[in-house]
Amino acid sequence: MDTLIKKSSTNTENTMTSLTGDIPFYKPLGKEEEVFKHAYGCRIPVLLKGPTGTGKTRFVGYVAHKLNRPLITISCHEETSSTDLIGRFIIKGAETIWMDGPLTKAVKIGAILYLDEIAEARPDVIVAIHSLTDHRKELYLDKLGETIKAHKDFMLVASFNPGYQKGFKELKPSTRQRFVALSFNYPSPKDEAEILVNETQLEMSVAKKLVGIANRIRNLTELGLTETVSTRLLVDAAKLIHSGLPKRLAVRVAVVEPLTDDLEITESLADLCDLMI
Ligand SMILES: Nc1ncnc2c1ncn2[C@@H]1O[C@H](COP(=O)(O)OP(=O)(O)O)[C@@H](O)[C@H]1O
Ligand SMILES: [Mg+2]
Repeated sequence: MDTLIKKSSTNTENTMTSLTGDIPFYKPLGKEEEVFKHAYGCRIPVLLKGPTGTGKTRFVGYVAHKLNRPLITISCHEETSSTDLIGRFIIKGAETIWMDGPLTKAVKIGAILYLDEIAEARPDVIVAIHSLTDHRKELYLDKLGETIKAHKDFMLVASFNPGYQKGFKELKPSTRQRFVALSFNYPSPKDEAEILVNETQLEMSVAKKLVGIANRIRNLTELGLTETVSTRLLVDAAKLIHSGLPKRLAVRVAVVEPLTDDLEITESLADLCDLMI
């Protein structure tokens, strides 16, 4: 049987977040919560588009909490296959047993399933979710030859980093059009400073300086950086500063160095940041 594999070999990272615990802090940036709640009411899949570190994953955690649904997250990468999502036979002692994958589990219990970076996954993943994204709302378990109907509360969410940068994969129109799409981008300076303060208890005056640096670098399009300063990088810098690392060093290691390996650009960005912090 070609589906037989050892118990430990699953190559997809996934996490299940239950409803216990505090609601994640999320600063709304627009109408995303309202749209999501309506999409959930209509059980229309939602696609979160936007550059890395702009709050997509945080938003899903927050809204799942608000809707009181368990959340199952799958971080997709080049090796993520439909088998990783649907399930497989595993060997347990002398027996072979079927184990539901995270997608099958979500479909059965009525969870929100979040496919993070969906475009990275193998094409068979997209094929597997098609029947869940249209009127059929069912999942075909190919290895069992079974079709299961999705629980009434099941919902599919995916995130995607649009292909305006080299190296990122595109998502086919036939797939995109199965979702309503919400765009994420860098927050306004005021919102971003508030996020930093909330995330790290950093002083507002320093948070504002970090946001100033970020916006300055974001506007330096002529540097040709593949990715620019995300809120995530700023949060890291803010944490390091709050924990006592000198500000300039924190900005250098958390903001400048992760952006580029070009020595000249690194030095000029570091100089710019030194002046601003
Ligand atoms: N709107 C927001 N509200 C609260 N935190 C945010 C927000 N946007 C970004 N963040 C912060 O930035 C970090 C990265 O966001 P994340 O959701 O992981 O980004 P993405 O999934 O878009 O790559 C979060 O851990 C959080 O600290
Ligand atoms: Mg994410």
